[in-house]
Amino acid sequence: MNNKLWGGRFTQPTDKFVEEFTASIGFEQRLGSYDIQGSKAHAEMLGRQEIISEADAQKIISGLDEILNKIESGKMEFSIALEDIHMNIEAQLIERIGPVGGKLHTGRSRNDQVAVDIRLYLRDEIDVILDYLKKLEAALIQQAENNLDIIMPGYTHLQTAQPVLYSHHMLAYREMISRDRSRLRDLRARFNLMPLGAGALAGTTFPIDREWTAKRLGFDGVTRNSLDSVSDRDFAIEFCSFASILMMHLSRLSEELILWSSADFNFIELSDAFCTGSSIMPQKKNPDVPELVRGKTGRVYGNLMALLTLMKSLPLAYNKDMQEDKEPLFDTIDTIKGSLKIFADMVVEMQVKGDNMRIAAARGFSTATDVADYCVRKGLPFRQAHEVVGKTVRYCVETGKDIPELSLAEFQSFSDLITADIYDYVTLEASVNARKATGGTAREAVERELKRLQNP
Ligand code: ARG
Repeated sequence: MNNKLWGGRFTQPTDKFVEEFTASIGFEQRLGSYDIQGSKAHAEMLGRQEIISEADAQKIISGLDEILNKIESGKMEFSIALEDIHMNIEAQLIERIGPVGGKLHTGRSRNDQVAVDIRLYLRDEIDVILDYLKKLEAALIQQAENNLDIIMPGYTHLQTAQPVLYSHHMLAYREMISRDRSRLRDLRARFNLMPLGAGALAGTTFPIDREWTAKRLGFDGVTRNSLDSVSDRDFAIEFCSFASILMMHLSRLSEELILWSSADFNFIELSDAFCTGSSIMPQKKNPDVPELVRGKTGRVYGNLMALLTLMKSLPLAYNKDMQEDKEPLFDTIDTIKGSLKIFADMVVEMQVKGDNMRIAAARGFSTATDVADYCVRKGLPFRQAHEVVGKTVRYCVETGKDIPELSLAEFQSFSDLITADIYDYVTLEASVNARKATGGTAREAVERELKRLQNP
């Protein structure tokens, strides 16, 4: 005898350890309310289509509502023997309303049921994440707006390259987050189709109305192939790749915040609320939050790899392997929600040390390109101008001088095209503000951009 919901063809009970090993209830309780949402719509459709009686449908729906209350108040007891969320809820339903509860599974399989549950759940989480992304974008914009006077070194190869506005640097991250948001919206639209009706794999013999159920559940339409409907996890993979790209962006910002808050850079001060101390070194204030986010990036990439590998070479249609999709997906969702939330708060509270940034921006001959551009405007081909300024910089290195400190005679020893107005071009402000075209770092270009972001 085997008293499972599927026990009919079995003569022996399931091995206890196998029961534990195969159960997913331990990690999928968060699907409970979505399972009920899907089941209620399915039951209502069964009633409308007269596949079951209206009265039975009503009994099932009220029974499901009671279970939902129980789940939401934390009183529902889940059982490993019932394997997964679907059978826990169905068993509970039958216990409450009697054998009529057994009619709910008409024209349905756990395979299409789980496919619909994950989509409903992911869709809700995506809406929360879209909101978190917006908040982070707003925090970056706010940092940019509040610090428009600050000039910092722009780097390539982590070597001082050209001065840039700190606001411009913050808005670079806003671009990344805004692309992340657009990717997330795209993938949401792609998977918002309802798989219910695929049954176990081939469809169902009952006269169901998939379009009605899809509408009821807020889907944009129905999936088009039953085999694909129950074996597709592209949406989870797409979501995890969106998340990996997002975490890559957050890890780059993390890295910069960690560098910038070091004593050597000393560009920013993170709020105490986002740092911790050392148990031995009393002077330490460690940037734990960005470090952890940088670290969590690895686990999100790992989850993407896990899903890709999980799905690789799986024959159609459903395979139990696919139960392994949940933990990586859930962990990814939890990780990026936490990271985004904490980052938005941390960015808003970040104190910028404009003077230190400015001193650093002036080092490293950051206006050398401006001297070269100056020579070009005076008629020198760029390659020759590059050579002239290269020699000028070498002279500066040898004599320990900075470009703006050179006398006119010194400038002219490298090119007689240079005249007294050169000093108007080698200040940090002049260098920054000369880059006015859309996307440049000039204050007026950055201000235009900020305005555009306020009135999209
Ligand atoms: N817990 C299962 C999963 O997450 C639900 C689908 C089970 N279907 C099956 N035929 N065993 O994949």
